[in-house]
Amino acid sequence: LREHEEFTKVKNIATMELGRYEIETWYFSPFPPEYNDCLKLYFCEFCLNFMKRKEQLQRHMKKCDLKHPPGDEIYRSGTLSMFEIDGKKNKVYGQNLCYLAKLFLDHKTLYYDVDLFLFYVLCECDDRGCHMVGYFSKEKHSEESYNLACILTLPPYQRKGYGKFLIAFSYELSKKEGKVGTPERPLSDLGLLSYRGYWTRVLLDILKRHKGNISIKELSDMTAIKAEDILTTLQSLELIQYRKGQHVICADPKVLDRHLKAAGRGGLDVDVSKLIWTPYK
Ligand code: ACO
Ligand code: ZN
Repeated sequence: LREHEEFTKVKNIATMELGRYEIETWYFSPFPPEYNDCLKLYFCEFCLNFMKRKEQLQRHMKKCDLKHPPGDEIYRSGTLSMFEIDGKKNKVYGQNLCYLAKLFLDHKTLYYDVDLFLFYVLCECDDRGCHMVGYFSKEKHSEESYNLACILTLPPYQRKGYGKFLIAFSYELSKKEGKVGTPERPLSDLGLLSYRGYWTRVLLDILKRHKGNISIKELSDMTAIKAEDILTTLQSLELIQYRKGQHVICADPKVLDRHLKAAGRGGLDVDVSKLIWTPYK
């Protein structure tokens, strides 16, 4: 963990080209020293190799035979596909993805040890190939029950529901593992907004449908959301009372309806029947 170095450095690469997008970067990313003098980097949108000059990329694109991320396609629904990449089997890809992601992640450590992670890359696919819209990473084994380490939606694709889709996907994996999960901290402002939004909608939907009392433990079992995250979410919605030393959920239908209206659109759903996946062993 070399976070102290990264926090103090200023942004070096100002823009990046990826597929048909030119994207302005947000933060410093510790690319190898030979890239220190470039303002713009050219990425191959499939293998994520990066280059200093457009001509290099053009030459690369003639040879690169990837049309989608390496690894296994574990989900496909319509034009959306999710690929699982093992950082140990595809080290260079994992490192490239981390360099790229750090351009948009502030308070996150870049993991040089990509071996320990799985990467879930979400793509929009067409006849030219599968184009990355975002990703999340996940430790193969987490002591702290983290089910997501870093999450990113590339800027041209933000605010379309992909972030919540990625979050929902991370919880679907946790459900398949039979574990509860929580995102690694700290969360960025946008990360927190997205998680709050996801937790709120999922919990309100259940409370709305459920008849009778329900406990935080039961909600956690149903959703794979960690009890603490459920508690803070319901507290912020003022749906929790403290009685006889216990937190009790008070789901007044009128209050639920008010919150549900405010929670806005649901976004893209994960169709679990299209997820073909077994937990990492
Ligand atoms: N302004 C205000 N609210 C926002 C914004 C914004 N610019 N972006 C997202 N939100 C909120 C909204 O509440 C939104 O829900 P709504 O559109 O229904 O109102 C909710 O977040 C989620 O929106 P999505 O469209 O599902 O999310 P998006 O695809 O934009 O991705 C993400 C969210 C991944 C956090 C994205 O903003 C991003 O990549 N940011 C840069 C990297 C980052 O900060 N990642 C999280 C770090 S923490 C961690 O990795 C554990
Ligand atoms: Zn390539």
